[in-house]
Amino acid sequence: MSNYKIAAIPGDGIGVEVIAAGVEVLKALAAKRGTFGLDFEHFDWGSERYLREGQYIPEGGLEALKSFDAIFFGAVGSLEVADHVSLWGLRLPICQGFDQYANVRPARVLPGVTSPLAKGKAIDWVIVRENSEGEYSGSGGRVHQGLPIEVATEVSTFTRVGVERIHRFAFELARSRPAKHLTLVTKSNAQRHGMVLWDEVFAEVAQDYPDVRTTRELVDAVTTTMVLKPEQLDVVVATNLHADILSDLAAALSGSLGIAPTANLNPSRDFPSMFEPIHGSAFDITGKGVANPIATFWTAVMMLEHLGETAAAAELMSAIEAVTESGLHTPDLGGKATTREVTDAVLALIRR
Ligand SMILES: NC(=O)c1ccc[n+]([C@@H]2O[C@H](COP(=O)([O-])OP(=O)(O)OC[C@H]3O[C@@H](n4cnc5c(N)ncnc54)[C@H](O)[C@@H]3O)[C@@H](O)[C@H]2O)c1
Repeated sequence: MSNYKIAAIPGDGIGVEVIAAGVEVLKALAAKRGTFGLDFEHFDWGSERYLREGQYIPEGGLEALKSFDAIFFGAVGSLEVADHVSLWGLRLPICQGFDQYANVRPARVLPGVTSPLAKGKAIDWVIVRENSEGEYSGSGGRVHQGLPIEVATEVSTFTRVGVERIHRFAFELARSRPAKHLTLVTKSNAQRHGMVLWDEVFAEVAQDYPDVRTTRELVDAVTTTMVLKPEQLDVVVATNLHADILSDLAAALSGSLGIAPTANLNPSRDFPSMFEPIHGSAFDITGKGVANPIATFWTAVMMLEHLGETAAAAELMSAIEAVTESGLHTPDLGGKATTREVTDAVLALIRR
């Protein structure tokens, strides 16, 4: 029987609430099926720790994480720490340090959930976000700080290796889906260096996937396709920044940020991959017990799939869909249910 070591990093705000719910559901699923085990180790890496000790990740922390099979992450962000400090203190060192270059973000309108779009039922997308370089490479700097002549640069870095591997990943994913359709999103009319490299490498890689239909859209234009012609998209590949924005739009169009999952994958499996809901720490609802745990449960499904536990993943996804279909919804989906009630409903189906 496989026994998986999972590092749970709830982080901040509602991350703590939804990861607790996710761990509870995953433990119940493993106990009921009896075919695999999950050993969770909890890490207190969050803004409270940073304010107390000056570091999100303690010395040797990343090294310690390497021995885990997967990382189950909540969110990071606090009103007491600047956002660029918290993000670069915790989440990005893990994504970049473990070369989790493929950020996979599915979007679908779950049963019982209402999309703000008339054609919402047509949403069935997977956004593949380059997750290791591009606009979030961290390259740049500030000089003459505080003076009128201050200069800040934020350099987008695109490497041929980085671009090619994300395109290959996206083509493989597109090939595995019934529609076999991949849309390349760039902004190569205005950004004539890195984005043109993206277009060129895409065309090269496409030669190896004649069975995958390809289309190209500029990032501004694809927002209108998402809203007006959702049926025209299947798998979308885009840069770190573009896909970050598009996937929040995708989440909202599918009903709520509170249901959207993501996987930060190291496809070569040299390092553990990290699974997290796409939402942040949600200051406005922290501590109120109303955070939607569905994004975290769906994230858990992606983690189980990555671990090879596909039957357990399918069982959890069915339980999630049965609960959304029943109309038991948290306030972000227009309901009155609490995190506890939604978690209990999923647990009841698992234990049935
Ligand atoms: N991956 C991450 O760790 C991550 C991602 C995004 C934002 N952040 C951080 O989180 C903090 C808050 O950022 P923000 O407000 O821009 O984004 P957010 O995702 O935290 O919240 C945006 C809105 O969506 C709602 N929402 C989010 N998740 C929900 C859920 N599960 N259930 C119900 N409603 C939900 C919130 O209440 C809020 O109104 C900031 O510090 C930001 O840097 C972290």
